Amino acid sequence: MPPALTPKDVARWRRGWESMMRHYQPGRDDLLAAGLAAAEEIHGRAPERVLDVGGGPGTTAEVLLRRWPGAHVTVLDVDPALLALTSTALPHVRTVRADFGTARWLASAGGPYDLALALMTLHYLPEDRVRDWYAEARRLLRPGGLLLVADAVPDAPVSSRRQGGAADPWTEWWAALAREPAMTPLLRERAQALVGLSGGEFVAPVPWHREVARRAGFLDPTVPHHRAGHALMAFRRPPDRR
Ligand SMILES: C[S@@+](CC[C@H](N)C(=O)[O-])C[C@H]1O[C@@H](n2cnc3c(N)ncnc32)[C@H](O)[C@@H]1O
Repeated sequence: MPPALTPKDVARWRRGWESMMRHYQPGRDDLLAAGLAAAEEIHGRAPERVLDVGGGPGTTAEVLLRRWPGAHVTVLDVDPALLALTSTALPHVRTVRADFGTARWLASAGGPYDLALALMTLHYLPEDRVRDWYAEARRLLRPGGLLLVADAVPDAPVSSRRQGGAADPWTEWWAALAREPAMTPLLRERAQALVGLSGGEFVAPVPWHREVARRAGFLDPTVPHHRAGHALMAFRRPPDRR
């Protein structure tokens, strides 16, 4: 039987995750802060129900809860190893294992939500799926709810920061996690969960997202943060007119 993962180990892996993600997402802390401020401004209060799509090890969920301690936060991801890090660190957060590569994820996601986020996540999908995904995300929001999407946008060179190279921070983080005996069963499960998933790497400029989201029924977006080839876009589902 492998040794259990201790809370101290989990904290260390999640800290490592954040420094790795900061490498890929310049201005990550400011970007998230700008998104959360936009959500407060639109709702006029803290959102009550929040969904983090592709929320990984729950480091964004932790930031959300620090700012909005009363929020009900759900982290949805396909990766059982990352979800285990979330639920060990944040036992009060609901975790959902689902693949947003097909429309079936909607049935597991729950809702309606005041706020949904997808940070550094949509680029995993091929272009056609991203189009459908916007329409699906809209259905998960209550009328007037907000979707925050942050990802690479091709307005600056990003090639040196891509995942998957030999010894880049992403590869290094996963290689180090694989040396953690307590993670062995979860990483085996992860390998099975990832079979057949799209590697995507689709990136599009802000106007592309604007147009696709408009067709999916969102209002025109604002862009609360945009820096060095990364943008955070805020899309609102129209409020009911009744
Ligand atoms: C680069 S990570 C970003 C994680 C988190 N949003 C953050 O910013 O720290 C991308 C996340 O999307 C998840 N993911 C990728 N493809 C997915 C899919 N088809 N369904 C659900 N989650 C997926 C990965 O497991 C991973 O947690």
